[in-house]
Amino acid sequence: MDKRPIGVFDSGVGGIAVFREIIKYNPNENIVYLGDTKSFPYGSKSKESIVELTKKGIEFLINKGVKQIVIACGTATSQALDEVKKLYNIPIIGIINSTVEYIEQKNMKNVGVMATAGTIRSNAWKNSILQKIPDANVINKACALLAPMAEEGWIDNEIAVLTIKEYLKDLKDKNLQALILGCTHYPLFKKIIKNELQENVDIIDTGEILSKALKKELIQNSMENNETEPKYEIYLTDTETNFKNVASKLLGNNMQEIKLAKE
Ligand code: DGL
Repeated sequence: MDKRPIGVFDSGVGGIAVFREIIKYNPNENIVYLGDTKSFPYGSKSKESIVELTKKGIEFLINKGVKQIVIACGTATSQALDEVKKLYNIPIIGIINSTVEYIEQKNMKNVGVMATAGTIRSNAWKNSILQKIPDANVINKACALLAPMAEEGWIDNEIAVLTIKEYLKDLKDKNLQALILGCTHYPLFKKIIKNELQENVDIIDTGEILSKALKKELIQNSMENNETEPKYEIYLTDTETNFKNVASKLLGNNMQEIKLAKE
């Protein structure tokens, strides 16, 4: 048993959608969350910048005494995970591997990926899928506006519907078996996305799959916490604007007071 918290990291509120899934599948775990709102958005930044920002985030969480890091950000997973894994002596997981394993298990070969421009440019999803399923057909779609809209809380208005319709034009009627929400901000739009696609497309929330994998990993490493009454802490690197509103919709009663992360 290991009572230390799990550190969860994202550029903003998207990782809160992962946080929600982590506590669903790992209800006894303590969590420290860091949203790097000062540097949001990550999706338009270079790989070098993403690696530097991810290192800073991980170091903040390590200083909070966490036992495990979850990179709850598709952009940081796609461009920084391999680098930071080499640098820190702590288990670190991102959102890609467990999802690709899920796709392989389900024998899905026609897969769409919606993600930030940086994630799509890195080709991380496509490469990881093709490594496991060489004959897969992967259709990428960069959706630069969605993460900023989620931060703004525009997740269920007319503009959100129109924007999603526009992005889905390239993914519709392609016989997709699965559509990966490759940015952790996108589950906030899941309802709208679902309405726009055929019934049988599996819309994959990477946070849910990651959270199940995390549970397995914690048990395997004898690192799970069996105590009840978990504690949650939420830090941001800059003042919040709409973070609290959006995060409260996801976390409900589990929402915490937001603290400012001091360097
Ligand atoms: N939530 C992040 C992701 O999963 C990034 C959004 C951003 O900072 O651009 O990619």
